[in-house]
Amino acid sequence: MTVKNILETMDYGPAPESAAEAMAWLDTKNRQFGHFIDGKFTPPMQDFTSKNPANGEVLASLSQARQDDVDAAVSAARKAQKSWAKSGHTRAKYLYALARALQKHARLFAVLETLDNGKPIRESRDIDIPLAQRHFYHHAGFAQLMETELPDREPLGVCGQIIPWNFPLLMLAWKIAPALAMGNTVVLKPAEYTSLTALLFAEICDQVGLPKGVVNIVTGDGAVGEMITASDVDKLAFTGSTEVGRIIRKATAGSGKALSLELGGKSPYIVFDDADLDSAVEGLVDAIWFNQGQVCCAGSRLLVQEGIADTFYRKLKSRMDGLRIGDPLDKCIDVGAIVDPIQRATIADMVASNKEGETYQTTAPEGCFYPPTLITGLTTSSKLMQEEIFGPVLVSTTFRTPAEAVAMANDTRYGLAATVWTENINLALDIAPQLVSGIVWVNSTNLMDAAAGFGGVRESGFGREGGWEGLSGYTKAKDAPKPAKPVTAFEGKGSLSDPIDRTAKLYIGGKQSRPDGGYSRVVYGPKGDALGEVSLANGKDLRNAVEAAHKAKGWSKTTGHLRAQILYYLAENLATRSAEFADRIKALTGKQGRDEVESAIQTLFTYAAWADKYDGQVHGVPIRGVALAMKEPVGVIAALCDPRPLAGLIEVIAPAIAMGNRVVASASEAFPLAATDFIQVLETSDVPAGVVNLLTGDHAEMASHMGAHMDIDAVWSFSDPSHAAAIEAASASNLKRTLIAPVPGAAKAMLDAATEVKNIWVPYGE
Ligand code: NAI
Repeated sequence: MTVKNILETMDYGPAPESAAEAMAWLDTKNRQFGHFIDGKFTPPMQDFTSKNPANGEVLASLSQARQDDVDAAVSAARKAQKSWAKSGHTRAKYLYALARALQKHARLFAVLETLDNGKPIRESRDIDIPLAQRHFYHHAGFAQLMETELPDREPLGVCGQIIPWNFPLLMLAWKIAPALAMGNTVVLKPAEYTSLTALLFAEICDQVGLPKGVVNIVTGDGAVGEMITASDVDKLAFTGSTEVGRIIRKATAGSGKALSLELGGKSPYIVFDDADLDSAVEGLVDAIWFNQGQVCCAGSRLLVQEGIADTFYRKLKSRMDGLRIGDPLDKCIDVGAIVDPIQRATIADMVASNKEGETYQTTAPEGCFYPPTLITGLTTSSKLMQEEIFGPVLVSTTFRTPAEAVAMANDTRYGLAATVWTENINLALDIAPQLVSGIVWVNSTNLMDAAAGFGGVRESGFGREGGWEGLSGYTKAKDAPKPAKPVTAFEGKGSLSDPIDRTAKLYIGGKQSRPDGGYSRVVYGPKGDALGEVSLANGKDLRNAVEAAHKAKGWSKTTGHLRAQILYYLAENLATRSAEFADRIKALTGKQGRDEVESAIQTLFTYAAWADKYDGQVHGVPIRGVALAMKEPVGVIAALCDPRPLAGLIEVIAPAIAMGNRVVASASEAFPLAATDFIQVLETSDVPAGVVNLLTGDHAEMASHMGAHMDIDAVWSFSDPSHAAAIEAASASNLKRTLIAPVPGAAKAMLDAATEVKNIWVPYGE
């Protein structure tokens, strides 16, 4: 075909990228790979193959790690960790060297990624590989700054990292760069479909002279993931399906291992009637057809304002008709191959099983390709509006008002990302905070950068990757409190002298209430004298308290200024009764109580101070625009307090309510009567009903109820460490955040625990 012909017909001419260099690199390895452990490749075992999904060709044979391999990798990482942690500057130099090496071999990485995964070369070349480099550059900076900017943090130790197949090298960079920057060493497992760029990365580690054992890569399927999960690592970082996230949450429950989970999503893409419709259509190409829709934050749920729906769908279908599907190595291709025939079959089955709405599909070549698909006329409860399809399938419905858009957007068990299109910035910035998600893109979509945290809420997991907020997941406090000796209630025989029943009640929804089960216990002092009776709360009381906390959701919208005033007022009212509280603490514990009361007052002042100062950040991301990292309350926090009668309660409720959360606290199990006295302070201090709910009773029983409750967003436990396993295992229900420690931490750590970071991306310009 001549240029003249092309100009005459304007027919599309393919522009394939050469695979020769990538194939030549595979040939240098005889197309066989072992694992990369302690700075060396192990002998290849040829257990399974990695294929090019676009044509089914076998690219290489790979090894399935055995227990010995995983053990060797973890012990190599352990051996290397201490000296790796010594110098931030040395780490910065290595991370910089890795970034440079990735840049130097960018084309090889891009082609290899496309061959192995099926994604269009345009994406691997322009997005995956440059973002991976950027991650290493950015985190080289964090390594350099750790000593001065995070003086109270230290590395966790060895991190086990398990990643998926949709962004193989990029997910590796997201995991390895921050871990290494903060002085940890790693054992990483790529997904079984897509291990090749991780193995090329291992070779790059060797080339830049990275100390052996700092990065270890083991290959294989979920069974290897299970071995890593069970191994002697200090942290597990997982990206993948919500189902496996749950398995890992349960498997690590009570182990003391740190955990971050970046899971699935069903992210809403909201188009208001004043949006620039052509831009919004173009945005959808990036939202749902980028990487064949195999993106955890894909804008897969389209919500269109009713008045423009017909016009918008028409424009969208016409754009879909123009998408080119085919050979991923062709630079003009928009949609490449699905990662594997199994995944393709899953997508096809889900679409075929849908009997609702109207389906519009373009065409796709034979093989492991799936046509871009739009299904309109669904309702929010339709199966395909709720379930993650993880393919190039967009599902849609319409809405009438902004309030309805928010309600529909939030009607999902996930909470990863959301997109809002409107020309009205006030509307966009009003909607963004109301969306339950970790990320919001305004008039843009799928923007990611190393400087901005990425991650979700609800069943999309917890923890952030990237930005300052991502670093806490790879560090721990240097002065972490040591495990405390168990404290048990005093026993006694005496009976209460007062004939009138003065059983301390529970405090739920602003009212004192009797326990559902009708049980109580006598609280004894150190000499066995009966001090009073306390209610024993059960699961029903917890449910009532959570319901009351949910009703008090207005608290989350109050200003920091108002919350500060109420915390100061609590402190003032406590101070006027300090002698009485000090006596109560002495009677309960046998130790003088003045210091504890003073400390509780100071804690209230500290969090009152922070209530209107714990600000977000504006991240400087490399777009014409900003990412606003907003601190938001977590929601409803349930907590088991440590044994200290008053301070144990105040150090939980003060940070929680200062940040706008509602709290259900189960008071000191051994010494609950100071907390129940505090109910009167709450009643006289303008704390709205339901913001603080107080239970007393058995922590072991509460632990599993709190962990399992679907409407609790986080559980904190500073009670007996033996409750950790029950809380964490049960928390897999809705993947709530958990914080387990002997006592509440320093203010910044507690404020972090009491907030979620939402990154709102706002581009500038026409
Ligand atoms: P997956 O969650 O099974 O795999 C992700 C990683 O976890 C892989 O490295 C895998 O080997 C490993 N793994 C599997 N079972 C494990 C276990 N029991 N313990 C430890 N590690 C384990 O995801 P898969 O099967 O590749 O895809 C299934 C579905 O998951 C997709 O259709 C999609 O809906 C979702 N998914 C979501 C991703 C995200 O980024 N949120 C990424 C990949 C898949």
